[in-house]
Amino acid sequence: MPWLALRLSPSTRMIFSDPAAVNVINRLIKNITDLNMEPTPNFIIRAADLTKQVNSPAGVLTILDNISLEVKYGESVAITGVSGSGKSTLIGILAGLDLPTSGSVTLDNVELTGLDETGRARLRNRKVGFVFQTFQLLPGLTALENVMLPLELAGNSDAGELAREQLAEVGLAARTAHYPNQLSGGEQQRVAIARAFVGRPAVLFADEMTGNLDRKTAGHIIELLFDLNSERGATLVLVTHDEAVATHCSRTLTLDGGRIIHSDVPA
Ligand SMILES: Nc1ncnc2c1ncn2[C@@H]1O[C@H](COP(=O)(O)OP(=O)(O)O)[C@@H](O)[C@H]1O
Ligand SMILES: [Mg+2]
Repeated sequence: MPWLALRLSPSTRMIFSDPAAVNVINRLIKNITDLNMEPTPNFIIRAADLTKQVNSPAGVLTILDNISLEVKYGESVAITGVSGSGKSTLIGILAGLDLPTSGSVTLDNVELTGLDETGRARLRNRKVGFVFQTFQLLPGLTALENVMLPLELAGNSDAGELAREQLAEVGLAARTAHYPNQLSGGEQQRVAIARAFVGRPAVLFADEMTGNLDRKTAGHIIELLFDLNSERGATLVLVTHDEAVATHCSRTLTLDGGRIIHSDVPA
């Protein structure tokens, strides 16, 4: 039986010998074409006209004001801006944790803003690592169990071993059985980083992740991050005030009042 090759994206090549599978794929491709969703092979993130508004006692508050941006596969983008400029809101929406009031986000060719919460959760679990500014560890789980969780959700049978290795990489081999409230702020942050790295995500989002770390630990985490970027081609989107992080990135976006006021590519 002849082998048929289908090129789905620059990074995905599927080879089928089964005509039924080819039919399914052809139908999917037709559906995509019918929906007028052009494959976007060059960009892992495409955000168009993002606006986020919330109701406050003083009236409608615009947190993001018509933001559009594109991030290429394997790119590293630093997002800076004063406190309250919308950085956390923006990366939460780009990662599919939150929805914009209007506008769209496409992540690895899937329109996040067209999915329900379950669909977004599934996509996040497969593609996204996220380090929250406030860590968001589960208090009833040990460090090891917190790091194992995304792997277990993905059905990975090596979760324990991989989580242990990742905790060792962030310098916490001796803290695996600790609960979050038995860890310092910096240690909790490293657990959060291990949890975000462990699934080898296609995109890693991090919100001021080196903020609470001492210089030496921060340096090690930055090294791990950019290894993930250069060795595995992971895309990085990092909210940071850390010059050392920003200078490693291929681009810096500066937000102010919910708008991108500056986009800078280092010389
Ligand atoms: N759910 C919300 N309800 C009301 N205001 C919010 C909400 N989320 C964020 N904000 C406001 O939006 C602005 C931007 O917040 P944020 O994205 O956290 O900024 P940054 O991360 O740059 O400090 C801030 O003024 C914040 O108070
Ligand atoms: Mg923030």
